[in-house]
Amino acid sequence: MDQQFNVSEEQLGSPLIYPVDAYISRDYAEREGDCLWAKVWQQAGRVEEIPEVGSYINYEIGNDSILIVRAAEDRIRAFHNVCPHRGRKLVSTPPGANSACGKKDQCGEKKQGFFCPYHGWTFDLDGQATFILDREDWQGALSDERTGLTPVQVDTWGGWIWINMDADCESLQDYLSPIAGMLDPFEFDRMRYRFRQWGIFDCNWKVALEAFLEPYHVFATHPQLNKYGDFYAWSQSLGLHGNDGFDSRSADAASAADTTVHRAAKGEDARVTIATMQEEFWETIGASTTETLVNAARRLVDELPEGTPPAEVHHHWLESARRDDAARGVAWPEISDEQMTRAGLAQSIFPNMNILPGPTFALYYRVRPYGTDPDKCIFEAVAIDRFPEGEEPATEWQYAEQDPEQWPYVIAQDISNMVEMQKGLKSRGFRGCLPNPHQEQKVSNLHRNLANYMGMGGLQALD
Ligand code: FES
Ligand SMILES: [Fe+2]
Repeated sequence: MDQQFNVSEEQLGSPLIYPVDAYISRDYAEREGDCLWAKVWQQAGRVEEIPEVGSYINYEIGNDSILIVRAAEDRIRAFHNVCPHRGRKLVSTPPGANSACGKKDQCGEKKQGFFCPYHGWTFDLDGQATFILDREDWQGALSDERTGLTPVQVDTWGGWIWINMDADCESLQDYLSPIAGMLDPFEFDRMRYRFRQWGIFDCNWKVALEAFLEPYHVFATHPQLNKYGDFYAWSQSLGLHGNDGFDSRSADAASAADTTVHRAAKGEDARVTIATMQEEFWETIGASTTETLVNAARRLVDELPEGTPPAEVHHHWLESARRDDAARGVAWPEISDEQMTRAGLAQSIFPNMNILPGPTFALYYRVRPYGTDPDKCIFEAVAIDRFPEGEEPATEWQYAEQDPEQWPYVIAQDISNMVEMQKGLKSRGFRGCLPNPHQEQKVSNLHRNLANYMGMGGLQALD
């Protein structure tokens, strides 16, 4: 590939084209292991998954497996999931499972740690070897450093655990800037899993992720939603990351503001349109809203007179849902209209996560490569919500085939494009991707940043 393809931040908004190697080349997928996954901060799970000292999960990424453990009440540690003796994986992901998890307590009643089933070497929760069979055979040559588990950088933000395999990486806070500051008002750390579904799909991880990076596809992929409004979007790069939101084609400021505030601008009667849209979202996505919001929307026709301006209907709906949630013990965070507008509809966190947040909920997607196969990925769709204290549901990863019947209807519509795109990208008649410079900048930005990490060309101006 050619270095001349790299484009600047300023050029991102211009028409661009980029080649398909990033999606279909086995060589590229293998290089991603060293150049990308070994260098970036990655969301590796939720803090709630390791509630007790000794609780652990593992996170599989390409050929690497990372063990994440609560070593103390206030300390999370992460290690490469490999025994320093002769390289056996310490914790295995069970067949058909998304990750291993549990409370590791294999070392007797008083000790907690990891035990290698091959020769019995044992490690405490800080990764130090606590038992080496016949250690004297090494004649003093074994240092603690040589026999300890290899550490991995770990930190938390938003209730998520983040890992980085690069010992010299920048801090998570710096890495996530400015997107984390933009999203802090949503208080994701106070949300808990409502559902988490995953599958192994026959497409590159970027094909699956990109299905959620822009609303430009709503018109054709989700035609049933067009009756609610125009899904025209803005989209921008925020350094490594990006966000998008609803835009207006209208030059009229009042109409533009109305469109960007809510999506129910197209209906005759906003009271009805909001209720219908909320019900449809709840039935066909099962996320991106809550039962509280759906119920409050259903009451709008009784609570407001006909002809109430859409902005007022929208305001009344949110305030009444906020009161209902307060009554059941779910406080809404203080998010100003300005913060809401700035955050937009969805935010991408480089390289492989996209979040659609709301005041008490979020739907997010994480996509990873499956080993180093360019034609496969691990796809996950997750809903987190705020619950009254003590009413958080116990959830587990639910496996689903790449079968429309096994996913919420709207997500199945998104999935329907993935394998067909993976096939199309291999066509000798395809001349490179032409992302929409206004509405698909998150996609362009993903490829621009990816190319930088890979030290390879990525995008070029379309002339
Ligand atoms: S490989 Fe783990 S104890 Fe030998
Ligand atoms: Fe979609």
